[in-house]
Amino acid sequence: MERLQKVIANSGVASRRKAEELISQGRVKVDGEVVTEMGIKVGKNNVIEVDNVKISTEEKVYFLLNKPRGVVTTAKDELGRKTVVDLIECDKRIYPVGRLDYDTTGLIILTNDGEFANNIIHPKNKIDKTYVAKINGILSIVDVMKLKKGIVIDGVKTAPAKVKLKKADKKSNTSFVEITIHEGRNHQIKKMIESVGFEVLKLKRERIAFLTL
Ligand code: URA
Repeated sequence: MERLQKVIANSGVASRRKAEELISQGRVKVDGEVVTEMGIKVGKNNVIEVDNVKISTEEKVYFLLNKPRGVVTTAKDELGRKTVVDLIECDKRIYPVGRLDYDTTGLIILTNDGEFANNIIHPKNKIDKTYVAKINGILSIVDVMKLKKGIVIDGVKTAPAKVKLKKADKKSNTSFVEITIHEGRNHQIKKMIESVGFEVLKLKRERIAFLTL
């Protein structure tokens, strides 16, 4: 048996705090009866509804996937392209936690645990994500410093990042840069690299917090 607000949060409908609000607003029913009291315990056999819609209380599952290129990070693609969910055999309704671009490879978490997913992507938790980018040039010390300090993209400065030049090949004029950020802005790494004058040729995510490829 678990507390009602926890069960609602686990179902992915809302955060724990929002679930408490839903309960106090009289929007939650247990076995057909509105419950406004906080903290009642419910089990597998109870039917829980939020705004008259039954929530799922199924077992939680977690997958770490090494995403290949050419796959979209969504549960269902409107254009019918292959998704990260298609790559995993699972009878539960799982979805990706956060996003990687179509051409980005590497670590992505999939789960049906909404509260866990919210915790991973919520900016206040500052979860580190480490990427390795192959770029069409070699970063100077000044470029590295700029990226480390934060750089303005789309009018907003990025938070400080960890940046390491891993490998530089003068012959092919390419290099590999490791960048750790805790934000998750759209195409963030590509835009950061663009803003110092280079292009990302390949991008791979190698780590999310302590989880590695
Ligand atoms: N930054 C990007 O530019 N692309 C990704 O897929 C992830 C981070």
